[in-house]
Amino acid sequence: MKTAFKKVSDIKVGVVGYGGAFNMGRMHLQDMAKAGMTPCAVAEPDAARLAIAAQEFPGIQTYANVDEMLKKSDVNLVVLITPHNTHAPLALKCLKAGRHVVCEKPFAITTEECDAMIAAAKKAGVMVSTFHNRHWDGSIMRALEVVRSGMLGEIVRIEAHMGGWSKPGDWWRGSKSISGGILYDWGVHLLEYALQVVDSDVVEVTGFAKAGYWSAQSKWGQDTVEDEAQAVIRFKSGVWVTLTISHIDPNPKRGMMEITGTKGSFLWEYDHHEITVKQGEVTTVTKAKNPPEQWAKYYENIAAHLSKGERLVISPEWARRTIHILDLAGQSARVGRTIKAKYA
Ligand SMILES: NC(=O)c1ccc[n+]([C@@H]2O[C@H](COP(=O)([O-])OP(=O)(O)OC[C@H]3O[C@@H](n4cnc5c(N)ncnc54)[C@H](O)[C@@H]3O)[C@@H](O)[C@H]2O)c1
Repeated sequence: MKTAFKKVSDIKVGVVGYGGAFNMGRMHLQDMAKAGMTPCAVAEPDAARLAIAAQEFPGIQTYANVDEMLKKSDVNLVVLITPHNTHAPLALKCLKAGRHVVCEKPFAITTEECDAMIAAAKKAGVMVSTFHNRHWDGSIMRALEVVRSGMLGEIVRIEAHMGGWSKPGDWWRGSKSISGGILYDWGVHLLEYALQVVDSDVVEVTGFAKAGYWSAQSKWGQDTVEDEAQAVIRFKSGVWVTLTISHIDPNPKRGMMEITGTKGSFLWEYDHHEITVKQGEVTTVTKAKNPPEQWAKYYENIAAHLSKGERLVISPEWARRTIHILDLAGQSARVGRTIKAKYA
């Protein structure tokens, strides 16, 4: 692989997509600059957003699309911050042009897309990774410490759920064909947390989906994301994980994620967690704020990987695991039976 950047500042970054929903383009460029890389270019079809990028990063090159950026700019690392169905086609274009690629989550929508991206990166001798910033959330880092201490005993199951009662928005996240479906936004983060805890191969996935309630009122009609979907994942070790995301949940459950073991459980929300431990008849509950996130570690690792050959933490094979599960869950929901996982 082309890791021979003598200095981290030789890594010239271009972002594709400078959207306004969360101003993610600014965040990526700032974080990459903090890690020592050089922000060089932005490609964005929305002229108003491109003008904002030029204001926020004076002197940055601006392009209306990725083709122009690849043709005219010497950026060597491209970051894709665009709607989900564009990730694989844009990544393939940039990888084939010999550029390293960081793709926002989800890595792609299907397993086949992941495999094509991994093969294209290998062929071009470049890196491809996905922005799993939440790998370094305080909640999961604390959860891993607790699990590894043995305090929870043997891990039995993990349940992840997010719900509410709300019509999917009119933005692209409401469209199944653009977003991949209701499980592909936060679901990818929650699954990536679970995979950090469960060090075992996926055996099979069962998916469930209910659609048709909100679609009658949605701008996206039949293409509206599911009202609710669930994935049940069986691991070789015997552990199982459930992931449920819902827009028809009038009574959302406590916690976004809970790890349950033979001696206790670790439940967490965005900002706090609760550890429950059983010792005979005695139950001890400890509540605490989540430690601060350490998202900066993502680009520090990318910089060290490209300049010093340090191990890539979010490898494409790692990124493929969450997408394979979601792909199988979608297929399973469609055909109404459990589907075996495949490993390349
Ligand atoms: N990791 C995180 O914490 C996190 C947080 C928010 C969003 N995201 C991810 O970031 C990505 C973008 O989400 P967002 O909320 O910023 O969306 P957004 O709608 O705010 O921005 C997307 C931008 O991409 C542009 N775009 C669309 N197609 C393009 C193309 N072919 N070439 C160039 N630009 C194109 C649009 O014009 C738009 O400005 C998604 O993958 C989303 O899941 C990740």
